[in-house]
Amino acid sequence: MTMKPRVIVTRRWPAAVEQVLAERFDTTFNKGDAPLGLTELKAAFLNFDAILPTVSDKLPAAVFPDAEIRTQILANFGVGFSHIDIAAAKARGIAVTNTPGVLTDCTADIGMSLLLSVARRAGEGERQLRAGQWAGWCPTHMIGTKVTGKTIGIIGMGRIGKAMARRAHFGFDMDVVFYNRSKVDDAETRAMGARQLSSIEEVLAAADFVSLHCPGGAENRHLIDADRLGAMKRGAFLINTARGDVVDQKALVAALREGQIAGAGLDVYDGEPDVPSALIEMQNVVLLPHLGSATEETRVAMGMKAVDNLTAFFEGRALPDKVV
Ligand code: DGY
Repeated sequence: MTMKPRVIVTRRWPAAVEQVLAERFDTTFNKGDAPLGLTELKAAFLNFDAILPTVSDKLPAAVFPDAEIRTQILANFGVGFSHIDIAAAKARGIAVTNTPGVLTDCTADIGMSLLLSVARRAGEGERQLRAGQWAGWCPTHMIGTKVTGKTIGIIGMGRIGKAMARRAHFGFDMDVVFYNRSKVDDAETRAMGARQLSSIEEVLAAADFVSLHCPGGAENRHLIDADRLGAMKRGAFLINTARGDVVDQKALVAALREGQIAGAGLDVYDGEPDVPSALIEMQNVVLLPHLGSATEETRVAMGMKAVDNLTAFFEGRALPDKVV
């Protein structure tokens, strides 16, 4: 009988997915769900054929041992892979896969929730009510900003950017402008009447809501910095469901404090799970704990995608979602 590949799962995964993993592989689960440290991750490379990390694990070059590596594949649970040093994996001949597609709708749903919540002061209103401080309806109580008919600016018109644009346009009658490095010209984008502008600055100048949908990592670090926050319309809102490092958080705090922008809706942070106390203290900021893909349907689908990648790898088939 051939031995099953040894795989390690760094965090708890949905039960239905863990069951499949247990059937197909010689799987080590993380029953306590505590994040693995650098030493444990390093050891995993020596002892397992596959590591199944996720977006909250940190896999910099220092975690990849130089010799005696047993690991052949990192089947990541998550579409983003900026937490993995891809060059280090490549240099050691380790395959990397991710889970695109299945979290598009749910991430865009959270983006829209943030946009609506921050514009209509939903978080602030709920806090007031729960604190027993609501004094009743009156014409001037907690006045927000109208969403319907405004302009949304999408930075990064990939799958999730398009899904956000679709919701904004068809659900809320919004005009869509966007920035994308490569030309986007497809039937769906044309049907929305979405206009591709040639610079991020042009999008910032036009949009009432700016929504970020580009990858994180070195290439986009602080893409939205003090200058770009300054280029946004006064009274505009920033929505980030992409990665925390895309925004210079210090500059964002300053822009919010100075009233340069009206508010922000954030699902991701630089250095998660730390969130700057300056943001927590602000009423015009809606803060979610990285919930973009957090639905039963999507998390199971993400896990099953990782299983499919792993299965294909050990059966010698082409990887469905190959990063490296
Ligand atoms: C991802 O997949 O990259 C999200 O951030 C978590 O679902």
